[in-house]
Amino acid sequence: MTGELSPIDKAKFVAAKRAADFVEDGMRVGLGTGSTAAWLVRCLGEMVEQDGLKIRGVPTSTRTAELAREVGIEVISLDEARWLDLTIDGADEFDANLSLVKGGGGALLQEKIVATASDQMIVIADAAKEVEHLGSFPLPIEVIPFGWQTTQALVEETLVSMDVMGRQASLRMNGEIPFITDEGNHILDLHLGRIGNARQLAMVLNQIPGVVENGLFIDICDKVVIGYGDGRVETRDINEGTVSEDRLDFVETDNLFRDI
Ligand code: 5RP
Repeated sequence: MTGELSPIDKAKFVAAKRAADFVEDGMRVGLGTGSTAAWLVRCLGEMVEQDGLKIRGVPTSTRTAELAREVGIEVISLDEARWLDLTIDGADEFDANLSLVKGGGGALLQEKIVATASDQMIVIADAAKEVEHLGSFPLPIEVIPFGWQTTQALVEETLVSMDVMGRQASLRMNGEIPFITDEGNHILDLHLGRIGNARQLAMVLNQIPGVVENGLFIDICDKVVIGYGDGRVETRDINEGTVSEDRLDFVETDNLFRDI
């Protein structure tokens, strides 16, 4: 079955598998959203089933909650956990400071709340997610449906004085209808091209009434685990200033690759 995985999926898988090694018995773990985070959830599910790992997971979306339950992870709410030992999540972009763009899957609000409530955040990603400057990937912002067009206009006006290349915002769609987040909100994707000052932009966007949260994660991520299609894995720790590399073998198990 692994032979059918594309190099990008193999890269996501090995990043997730390596990051799962950071999860220890008794931890409360934030579970990210997206295709890379789904590998992580599957890896943790296998560790629960095969090694008796005891963890409680706080999912960042309904789809992650469903998968976590399916693979046997005990799911609790953030309010039950209050604080987490570790959150592991994917990203759409990361730079050398481990600043992130997230929200490609529309779960940025819960992802940011959960990651911020964690002692540590680890991002898992394939190498294509690394960028010199954030902004090629459209920056998602979550906005409330009430007056969203007015909010969009305010956002575009605000971007005029920001250090960005593009200023166009588009409403994310789900087919013919607007995409709805788990919190019942909409997503505006900001086509910025290049973000000069991500910290400033993140603060300014959140001042606009109608904007609930933006997909810039600044000073939240501690480590990134980067996977490659040939099984290589690189782990960078921004606090320790360390970089380590190793290689993972693909081991097929029914659990991990079931239904993929
Ligand atoms: C979801 C996210 C995801 O982490 C991000 O979109 C990366 O997804 P994938 O692992 O599928 O590439 O932020 O809101």
